[in-house]
Amino acid sequence: MKIMVVGGGGREHAIIKKLKENKNVTEIFALPGNAGMAEDATVVPIGAKEIDKICDFARENKVDYAVVAPDDPLVLGCVDKLEKIVPCFGPRSNAAIIEGSKVFSKNLMRKYGIPTAEYETFDSASDALEYVGKCKIPTVIKADGLALGKGVIIAGTREEAVDAVKSIMEDKKFGESGNRIVVEEFLEGPEVSVLAFTDGECVRPMVSSMDHKRALDNDMGLNTGGMGTVAPNPYYTEQIADECMEKIFLPTVRAMKAEGRPFKGCLYFGLMLTQSGPKVIEYNCRFGDPETQVVLPLLESDLLTVMQAVTNGTLSDCEVKFKDGAACCVIMASKGYPEKYESGFEIRIPDEIKNSVYVAGARSENGKLLTAGGRVLGVTAVENTLDEAIKSAYGKVAKISFDNAYYRHDIGQKAMKAIKK
Ligand code: AMP
Ligand code: GLY
Repeated sequence: MKIMVVGGGGREHAIIKKLKENKNVTEIFALPGNAGMAEDATVVPIGAKEIDKICDFARENKVDYAVVAPDDPLVLGCVDKLEKIVPCFGPRSNAAIIEGSKVFSKNLMRKYGIPTAEYETFDSASDALEYVGKCKIPTVIKADGLALGKGVIIAGTREEAVDAVKSIMEDKKFGESGNRIVVEEFLEGPEVSVLAFTDGECVRPMVSSMDHKRALDNDMGLNTGGMGTVAPNPYYTEQIADECMEKIFLPTVRAMKAEGRPFKGCLYFGLMLTQSGPKVIEYNCRFGDPETQVVLPLLESDLLTVMQAVTNGTLSDCEVKFKDGAACCVIMASKGYPEKYESGFEIRIPDEIKNSVYVAGARSENGKLLTAGGRVLGVTAVENTLDEAIKSAYGKVAKISFDNAYYRHDIGQKAMKAIKK
């Protein structure tokens, strides 16, 4: 089988490595992929948003199955076009809207009684400014559309709330994504990421995980795309999992179906475990990055088989099993990320740990692998316990070198504290 994976980061590398475990897979194309994946896939210089070129490539190369991983092509309708040529994994655009519009997802949750933060939506800056002039503080302000994971501002003071509304709606900090905003209640509690396979009816949650979004140790510094992950998330007990299934996962999938927007693919639930129960912070219409880099290494079932069951609507007949044990992924980034950073430095990865490394931002020049992004690598270890997985992941990180490398030193420590309690 020839498989095509659309996307180019560490998440896609993790998907590719897992798909390769299936003996029927003869070739994997990564569009656009990156040079760091070249040992695992054929890297094709077609961008993830070049939908017509992606479709032409699938047709010309007789691709047998396609996985569309990033949010933008999904929201732009990549699957709607591509599925006419090749069976696809990923939601159509009318379902990807669950991530593409926060106003849509909040209204969906309100209509179907799915627990989430209280909120108001605005399409006029003056109405929004009037509201944040008197609402409870802290408050959370979210641009409606995709904003590279940066469209959420937590305002700790009224001035910050006013500035946030102005920067999003008037100065258009996130472009058209800020034409509408959500202003919502500030929630507190541990955060959990749960990715789930769904074929539009059946839901099969994957092992839970915990992201570390801030750039610096002890959750200091700016928000990033994610600096590391661990799985499973110790806060996510079996009892909470059952509650989430009943009150969040199934109701969401049923709501999407009832709206005529069946969701097929990987649905990402960003949850907060509050005093009054688990609540949805956000939905993503795709695998999380870097959650995928800890979740898929723990998947025992064959990924391609599960994905095909999603596509065919037969997920209820398909077992989705995870290994016992724990995984930790440490992101090695370029110093300065998520703001300005330098790149073009040689990356050295010893052969014996290459299997544990997911490359996010690299290019090749004269046979050398060079850094080419804020997040450069994800280094994952799977062990019997979380403690061992953390030690093992950092042991591997120590063997990798590139100039200006930066990583957090405390990935998994919050989870360790929760385990010890
Ligand atoms: P997002 O980009 O939607 O993942 O949001 C970024 C981060 O903002 C989340 O991981 C949460 O830590 C935080 N956040 C979002 N919404 C809320 C909320 N209603 N209350 C508290 N924190 C929030
Ligand atoms: N790690 C968060 C995300 O993928 O959006």
